[in-house]
Amino acid sequence: MRILVTGGAGYVGSTLVPMLLADGHAVRVLDTLRFGGQGLLGCARYPAFELVKGDVRDFAAVDDAADDVDVIVHLAAIVGYPACKKEPDVAVATNVDGTRNVVRARRPGQRLVFASTGSVYGAVPDYLCHEDTPRAPITLYGETKAEAEQLVLAAGDAVALRYATAFGASPRMRLDLMPNTFAYQAVHDRSLIVYEGGFKRTFVHVHDMARSIVFALDNWAAMRDDVYNVGHERMNFTKAEVARKILEHVDYYLYFAETGSDEDKRDYEVSYAKIRSRGFETEIDLDAGVAELVKAVSLINVVNPYGNV
Ligand SMILES: NC(=O)c1ccc[n+]([C@@H]2O[C@H](COP(=O)([O-])OP(=O)(O)OC[C@H]3O[C@@H](n4cnc5c(N)ncnc54)[C@H](O)[C@@H]3O)[C@@H](O)[C@H]2O)c1
Repeated sequence: MRILVTGGAGYVGSTLVPMLLADGHAVRVLDTLRFGGQGLLGCARYPAFELVKGDVRDFAAVDDAADDVDVIVHLAAIVGYPACKKEPDVAVATNVDGTRNVVRARRPGQRLVFASTGSVYGAVPDYLCHEDTPRAPITLYGETKAEAEQLVLAAGDAVALRYATAFGASPRMRLDLMPNTFAYQAVHDRSLIVYEGGFKRTFVHVHDMARSIVFALDNWAAMRDDVYNVGHERMNFTKAEVARKILEHVDYYLYFAETGSDEDKRDYEVSYAKIRSRGFETEIDLDAGVAELVKAVSLINVVNPYGNV
């Protein structure tokens, strides 16, 4: 298939795009290269790989990029609540208007996969979120992704994948994700202070995120026109459990603070029964992911690890 991946140079994209190329697909990436393009260096050897440096906020750019493809995987976004809070106008223009451009530029017959997020649940009435739990985002990030998800599903012939909090190593590395940050600090600072250690989060490895997109494309008839939580109940952990898991792999000073708080107040669990019922299972658990992360963060030493927020 010929596949357009918006935001393909990002954390998820730089894991997904090589996977698609290795499967024999032709891949065009539309990306502003906000964080550079190094994550896709390994893709340049594929004749079927094409990079278009462009912006999803620019309808003409999206329209051109959508030409002659069978599938659009829409990843481009301003990702996470701190980044959205820092540049709210850019976040709304990218996440909502950019998605509107993608929906508008799509030709009849082109399938659309959208990367959504568990952040659309926000302040949930039920502690265990299912796909039909009312969306009640509490951050601008969650609001923009919820609005974009609605646009995509209303357009039809689409799948929205609501991801848990991502973690794991990817060619374009992100250090603003909690397990990645914890591992980086454990390895480089040899110490970590954890606030609100009892708060529960739900995680998915970036490799499994990319696999879920491939799975949706391979099982389109069963998956289309619906929304799925992507993750696994086995991957619901408190922040303290994640920090302690890292202690099993690297020796560092772990301190739980009574004061201080995390602005992201999400505290919930998510059901992943629906996507499992379609046959999708995640592969990488916290132990394997943390073992990988400890090695991965040892390979990098960045001046400002949290530069993207
Ligand atoms: N990582 C997570 O925890 C997570 C969880 C749930 C959902 N998601 C979703 O997955 C998608 C990918 O996230 P990621 O972690 O790879 O983020 P990322 O920030 O690493 O990648 C986003 C990519 O989009 C590009 N981009 C930003 N604005 C653009 C624009 N206007 N036009 C074109 N390209 C633009 C950036 O250059 C970057 O390469 C996002 O839609 C995000 O909301 C991510």
